[in-house]
Amino acid sequence: MINRVLVTGGAGFLGSHLCDRLIAGGDDVLCVDNFFTGDKRNVVQLSGNPRFELMRHDVTFPLYVEVNRIFNLACPASPIHYQFDPVQTTKTSVHGAINMLGLAKRVKARILQASTSEVYGDPEVHPQPEGYWGKVNPIGIRSCYDEGKRCAETLFFDYYRQHRLEIKVVRIFNTYGPRMHPNDGRVVSNFIVQALKGEDITIYGDGQQSRSFCYVDDLIEVMLRMMDSSTDFTGPVNIGNPGEFTMLELAERVLKLAASKSRLVFAPLPSDDPKQRQPDISLARDRLGWRPKVALEDGLKETIAYFRNLISA
Ligand SMILES: NC(=O)c1ccc[n+]([C@@H]2O[C@H](COP(=O)([O-])OP(=O)(O)OC[C@H]3O[C@@H](n4cnc5c(N)ncnc54)[C@H](O)[C@@H]3O)[C@@H](O)[C@H]2O)c1
Repeated sequence: MINRVLVTGGAGFLGSHLCDRLIAGGDDVLCVDNFFTGDKRNVVQLSGNPRFELMRHDVTFPLYVEVNRIFNLACPASPIHYQFDPVQTTKTSVHGAINMLGLAKRVKARILQASTSEVYGDPEVHPQPEGYWGKVNPIGIRSCYDEGKRCAETLFFDYYRQHRLEIKVVRIFNTYGPRMHPNDGRVVSNFIVQALKGEDITIYGDGQQSRSFCYVDDLIEVMLRMMDSSTDFTGPVNIGNPGEFTMLELAERVLKLAASKSRLVFAPLPSDDPKQRQPDISLARDRLGWRPKVALEDGLKETIAYFRNLISA
């Protein structure tokens, strides 16, 4: 059976890779995006394919289409973008979830929510298992994103309990790869762009805060597996790469792989920035038979090559 799949936020970083994989797998894809952080160029390789359709639409408004699967990715994901218009960010998460769940209910579609490790806030438990409820500031500058995503999860589980919808919730940890935004303040793209331009590399705090980084191909693979998993498995499930690196280690690797002469400079840590973040992926391993395969070094090489092209274009 050919699936008719809706991908919201499909012209963004993760969404565009997801569209590529779905088309390659033989599905029909409707990519919906308001192009706030997404770009038509991310899906230009699919234009002209009769199984691919691109539609400008804002998910805070209802959508009437006929599909049997929905991946709900629409939402700016980096602090610079989600803090630009925090009210719109919460609306996108909450109204967007309500609209997409309403659509799923009407057409009896299976629906997957791209949630985030940010639902754990600044965690007291390390690494974070799915059963950990998180430590989130409800009134801070990151709250529009963190609480918006938490509320979206609540809505997914209420639609599941109340309307028997087939839901899937994945909590995505830091992911990187080609088609990340060059200026969105996320650490991997920041370091790479600074290194390629020969600019100083900014490290926040003392650089000892750690993150785990998952390469985009690994992440898309597990999102597809989750969508195909048995009906009783709703998640939430953590997806990411547990390999941990400090910001200082990451900067040094990028400098080496980009053969850059940039200097490291230190700046104050932004408010509410978590000190540690690492997924516990045992659930994804057990239920989805998945583990990330791409080593940081290999993923960084691909990403550096992408940005090198972008900067020289
Ligand atoms: N990349 C990561 O490391 C990461 C980590 C955790 C969670 N996520 C989640 O994954 C999803 C995709 O993230 P990404 O990294 O690809 O970010 P992105 O900004 O590249 O993609 C988000 C897409 O959603 C679109 N969008 C935003 N608001 C919209 C609206 N109201 N209506 C329609 N489209 C809208 C944007 O234009 C963009 O194309 C997001 O929901 C994000 O919260 C990503």
